Amino acid sequence: MYRWRQHFTADKGEEVSTHSAQLTEQEMLLVLQPQTEHGSVLTALREATAEQHRKLEERFDAVSELADMHRRPQVIARYAAFYSSAFAALGPELEPLHELRFKHRRQAWEAVNMLQASADCATGFPAPADLREALGSFYVVEGSILGGRFIQAQLKKQDVEAAELAFLNPYGTAGGSMWRSLLSAIEEHGSGDLGIAAICRGATRAFDHAEFVLCGGTK
Ligand code: HEM
Repeated sequence: MYRWRQHFTADKGEEVSTHSAQLTEQEMLLVLQPQTEHGSVLTALREATAEQHRKLEERFDAVSELADMHRRPQVIARYAAFYSSAFAALGPELEPLHELRFKHRRQAWEAVNMLQASADCATGFPAPADLREALGSFYVVEGSILGGRFIQAQLKKQDVEAAELAFLNPYGTAGGSMWRSLLSAIEEHGSGDLGIAAICRGATRAFDHAEFVLCGGTK
């Protein structure tokens, strides 16, 4: 089980997170590198979802579950149900946003077999009321890659490497630029009190759904 605590670096006031489990310097760079630029909407999003992330991590020990070959297929199926439902629900709002390259992102998730879940599994993602809610939900979907990269590094330390785990880092070396382009869209479209409220609503609903699906349908 991994826990991370949020704090502010003394010099820049930038929010970072660290796990109580010891991270090497290289791992910290890997985890933190994609999130060096952020603005007020992202700050609000992080505040709104920090407790949900903490709770999810507490309930869902992804490293142990994915390291266990017997449990792994079931866990991967849950991830696939989450991502399939997300792409089905968010596509209509996000596809027209050219700068997001949503189709390109979908292809990458398809290539790592995350969008193959049956129609039954692919339902249940909270439908966004508008573009801002969709962007807030997508922050959770794409943010899971930051955790995924950390999980991948931990598995590698245990010599656990397998083709079916590629979904933990679907964009490979393009991950940082994909994350930053989503953050730019979030800052651009989520400004103002109403915008921030809508983005945070989308994110908190997506986190609820993620917890429900990834923890096996229990609250
Ligand atoms: C259970 C295993 C998980 C672990 C160990 C984990 C760990 C982490 C770590 C280390 C970060 C980067 C540090 C930081 O953001 O400050 C992160 C970021 C994030 N994770 Fe997770 N995570 C996990 C699962 C998930 C899942 C399943 C989701 C969503 C479905 C998720 C959503 C996010 C989001 C949205 C961020 C971005 C925070 C930001 O920078 O704004 N995580 N996670």
